[in-house]
Amino acid sequence: MPRTQVGIIGAGPAGLVLGHLLADAGVDSVVLEKASRQHIETRVRAGLLEHGTVELLRASGLGERMLREGLTHRGTEFRVDGVRHRIAYSDLYGGRAMLVYPQQELVADLVRLRLARGGPTVFEAEDVEPAGFDSDHPALTYSAGGVRERLECDFIAGCDGFHGVARESIPAGAISLFDQRLPFGWLGVIAAVPPSTSEIIYAVHERGFAGHMIRTPEVSRFYLQCEPDEDVGNWPDDRIWEDLHARLATTDGWSLKEGPIVEKSVSELRSFVCEPMQFGRLFLAGDAAHIVPPTGAKGMNLAIADAQVLAAALAAWYRSGDGALLDAYSSTCLRRVWRVQEFSSWMSWMLHRLPDDLPGRAFRRRMQQAQLDYLCGSPVAAASFAENYVGIEEF
Ligand code: APR
Repeated sequence: MPRTQVGIIGAGPAGLVLGHLLADAGVDSVVLEKASRQHIETRVRAGLLEHGTVELLRASGLGERMLREGLTHRGTEFRVDGVRHRIAYSDLYGGRAMLVYPQQELVADLVRLRLARGGPTVFEAEDVEPAGFDSDHPALTYSAGGVRERLECDFIAGCDGFHGVARESIPAGAISLFDQRLPFGWLGVIAAVPPSTSEIIYAVHERGFAGHMIRTPEVSRFYLQCEPDEDVGNWPDDRIWEDLHARLATTDGWSLKEGPIVEKSVSELRSFVCEPMQFGRLFLAGDAAHIVPPTGAKGMNLAIADAQVLAAALAAWYRSGDGALLDAYSSTCLRRVWRVQEFSSWMSWMLHRLPDDLPGRAFRRRMQQAQLDYLCGSPVAAASFAENYVGIEEF
């Protein structure tokens, strides 16, 4: 019967970083991934790494290409009705910087390094089923190449994203789910055009939020606020450029470069947390346990932070049999998760056009204006933003 110490479901940032940190501590793992290697290495997702995430990857030798090819960022721009306000977050938070590096590139690096060090990894693992995690003998069953396999393990790490099987397999009565859907959607656009900015832009406009994000020197990422359930067919390319020009326009002659649109999709803004992030010997990490609205660019960073906490706890258990860190895993992670939820929610409500039928809309609109005025006008407010955006070291 095949066996390993930790069975990891999912080869996203959470599962792959966990596998590496466990290997560093001499703990074996097997990663079971539903999709193909090619799929996970080309799926466009997040792209902004907090200072702490970069440091972790650097220290564990996982960031060599990331450090070579990633783009260091030290400030961001809030563009409010055409007027620019730069927040120099690095200066405001002890010189800590952020790094732009696409998630799929990081995933590709982590897979390559895992395979190079002989880490067992099953791609296209179908019908993964966690079992026995309320006992000392968990197991994962799955199908590979049409054959049903069973993998015995000491612990299961559910790193299988929001739609994964791990959280679903926990008895409903054992967890509390906190779910909040925001009345905003994002039309995400990828265009084959160099960025028109050297720093990320968050634009507030009467037509709705617009974001100009950065991925690589050749490819730009844009977001346009739309309805949460909007049909992407409502957005032909010329409408996208027209709205981007309008929402990102400045009073000082800045211009937007256009290029071929290679991808567009709609996603709703949503907050979700599962408490606790553990049941018996099953531990949830990353999007499997929580999702945040993308506004603060925190999802990948939270996933990697969970992996770091879980790896340290498992390493301690294997080293000395001490389960204290494992017992504290959920509460340790949830402190950071809720801080990030609050920050991402605050940013989302501040930057989006409020729906016409939102109760108390006129009052909330004034609150938004007061928040933006404070953020752009007070060094203390800017410093608080900087600490949260770059990632609070103490959390
Ligand atoms: N069996 C095996 N693998 C699965 C299953 C399953 N039943 N369900 C999902 N997976 C895989 C997915 O194919 C994916 O590769 O688990 C992986 C989960 O990876 P992510 O969704 O990237 O989640 P995570 O590692 O927590 O990273 C969170 O992803 O959604 C973004 O913005 C978010 O950047 C954040 C990051």
